[in-house]
Amino acid sequence: MEKLVITGPTPLRGHVKISGAKNAAVAIIPATILINGVCTIENLPNISDVKSYCEILENLGVKIKWINKHTIQVDSRHITSSFAPLDLTRKFRASYYLIGSLLGRCGHAEVGLPGGCNLGPRPIDQHIKGFEALGATVTVSNGNITATCDKLRANSIYFDMVSVGATMNTILASVLAEGTTTIDNAAKEPHIVDLANFLNTMGADIRGAGTDVIKINGVKELKGNATYSIVPDQIEAGTFMLAAIASKGDITVENCITKHLEPVIAKVLEIGGNVEANGDHARVWWSKRTSKANIKTLPYPGFPTDLQSQMGVCLSMSSGTSIINESIWESRFQYAQELNKMGANITISGKTAVFEGVEYLYGAPVTATDLRAGAALIMAGISANGVTEVFNLHHIDRGYENIEEKFRSLGAKIERQKVEE
Ligand code: EPU
Repeated sequence: MEKLVITGPTPLRGHVKISGAKNAAVAIIPATILINGVCTIENLPNISDVKSYCEILENLGVKIKWINKHTIQVDSRHITSSFAPLDLTRKFRASYYLIGSLLGRCGHAEVGLPGGCNLGPRPIDQHIKGFEALGATVTVSNGNITATCDKLRANSIYFDMVSVGATMNTILASVLAEGTTTIDNAAKEPHIVDLANFLNTMGADIRGAGTDVIKINGVKELKGNATYSIVPDQIEAGTFMLAAIASKGDITVENCITKHLEPVIAKVLEIGGNVEANGDHARVWWSKRTSKANIKTLPYPGFPTDLQSQMGVCLSMSSGTSIINESIWESRFQYAQELNKMGANITISGKTAVFEGVEYLYGAPVTATDLRAGAALIMAGISANGVTEVFNLHHIDRGYENIEEKFRSLGAKIERQKVEE
């Protein structure tokens, strides 16, 4: 086991380069199963979720060659299995994209239940609704989800709530289905657009990604033979922007798409931070104590749940009383009790957290309860007086590339150390 030891406070200063988007990569890698050919994917984040996914695909007969640590060449001409066992799929959430991909390519998928962060109940009824609408029979038993069909046929699907995963999975399952599939009430996140752009580059015909109505005109085959570069990670970019504010620093975030960060930029400005957004980079800096704000997490383009805990760190030190309402995940305030160990004053009531702003945080041993909570606690440790130890790093390593090196390059005093068992 390992821990991060952080000595603060340090105002972060300098430039940081954002990696490719985790939540796009974990949909695009399984999407290669649909390709009867070879393709190259660039700008992959070097994180454990990506490595786990590549391992699963190799077990299905896909040949993967690492060109460098951010680029793979994928040969999916010979899929030899449509079964992904639980011991591999439970390592992360996005393993459920294997169902849509294998169903689309092979007409059969037997996939272990997904794992991932414990954010409260994470049902997949809308994914199943999508598969069934396309003509598949879906059963869940003994820890596996099985989906089968003789022939997938296009249909119109209305989702009961906006779901990133169900939108992605239905796109994957319908790309090779006969006819035109329509998804209504689709998610609009940048990673949805990235998946559609990837598939279109490989020969698919998907229109409307990024709006709430997506139309997929089924094609006979995806030939591949193309190179695709993954979109920058807007959550990693937002994490560093908020770290600039929490640490009273001045950071330029490079290789991001500032359009994707509008809800975060709006809130940083509202609490009194400074932002200069320049399309593919943004300078974010602190100049005075930040003030309270109220936030409700929402599907894109609302304020992202995946930046809620990082924003919570800023609000815990802002003057006045702030309120965050978490509308996506039931258990996304677990970081609050860890931040309270560092001197924050946060009270949780159901899906609402009330932050009574304190002047400063102090160092303490804390545990990363999920991926984004882990990033938030690192930010808090950098901003706090004294030494903070962050435990449970496997959550953070799943989704952030070289996080401590990136923070160190901005001046943070942060070290990874082995923990005696
Ligand atoms: N929902 C259902 N039924 C479904 C699917 C979703 O009720 O069949 C509900 C969920 O319980 C939740 C809401 O709909 O309340 C939205 O869930 P969504 O399906 O959009 O989430 P997801 O696809 O499982 C992805 C990201 C999460 C991110 C959410 C919301 C990936 C691999 N994961 O999850 O990312 O929080 O969208 O934006 O893309 C993270 O990166 O830290 C992370 C948790």
